[in-house]
Amino acid sequence: MQGQVPAGQVVGRVIAIANQKGGVGKTTTAINLAVAIADTGRRVLLVDLDPQGNATSGICPPQDVSAARGEGKTIYQALVGGLAIAEILRQVRPTLSLAPAGDDLVGAEIELVTMEGRERRLRALLEPVRGEYNYVLIDTPPSLGILTLNALVAADSVLVPMQCEYYALEGLSALLGTINKVKAALRPGLEIEGLVLTMFDMRNRLSHEISAEVRKHFPEKVFRSVIPRSVRMSESPSHGLSVLEYESKSAGAEAYRALAAEIMAHREESR
Ligand SMILES: Nc1ncnc2c1ncn2[C@@H]1O[C@H](COP(=O)(O)OP(=O)(O)O)[C@@H](O)[C@H]1O
Ligand SMILES: [Mg+2]
Repeated sequence: MQGQVPAGQVVGRVIAIANQKGGVGKTTTAINLAVAIADTGRRVLLVDLDPQGNATSGICPPQDVSAARGEGKTIYQALVGGLAIAEILRQVRPTLSLAPAGDDLVGAEIELVTMEGRERRLRALLEPVRGEYNYVLIDTPPSLGILTLNALVAADSVLVPMQCEYYALEGLSALLGTINKVKAALRPGLEIEGLVLTMFDMRNRLSHEISAEVRKHFPEKVFRSVIPRSVRMSESPSHGLSVLEYESKSAGAEAYRALAAEIMAHREESR
């Protein structure tokens, strides 16, 4: 991408989207937040660090995904294979680039273990390019393994999606414990960007209860924007589109725009 980041905007802010529970809305949040921020003209890099590659397939036309993977231009090739990150990036929207994942990434969990600086490889990889973006968002796998660790070490902050269901808070202490260990040993400045409630069902009493409970536990840390449960949201990735593009006026699209606005306002006014 060409040109300079406009004055006043945050530069190179790296946000890891993490929760070791599967199916809580990490990938959906990564895709829709990336598009919502990029739609404002800010430059965004989305890094798919999940071997399932759902962020990749959810934002690219299918032929593009197979081309990227066929050419071996995946995040695995950069993280483990030694390619420069610039070689694997694909521009997927006017101001949005993607570092795609393929199933070769499955091997990384094991291969990274014996590599030098194994927890810092993603951080080192992003260093030369992060300044070209306002925001770098990293989608992580549903585990607290070495890939997620790489994301946390590379990040300035962690965004935690939480599904509005009965066991929402379960597992959160493990995640917060990991974040604290990473802060102590590897990445002192790591912050919590915030918790975002996902798959909220207005008509379901449980959704309201969970929301109230999470806000009681973390009064300062829960975003005002809440992501509603909607069929549109689950349909859009199969078209390689964000919900903002698939159904621009839907409640889900509005919610992700509002979340993006909260994050940008917080970051850009605190500078
Ligand atoms: N707000 C939502 N409304 C409806 N379905 C959703 C919503 N958010 C996510 N989903 C669907 O729920 C499933 C899990 O979401 P996903 O973002 O892949 O979670 P994770 O990345 O944490 O595993 C996917 O099928 C996704 O399309
Ligand atoms: Mg996912």
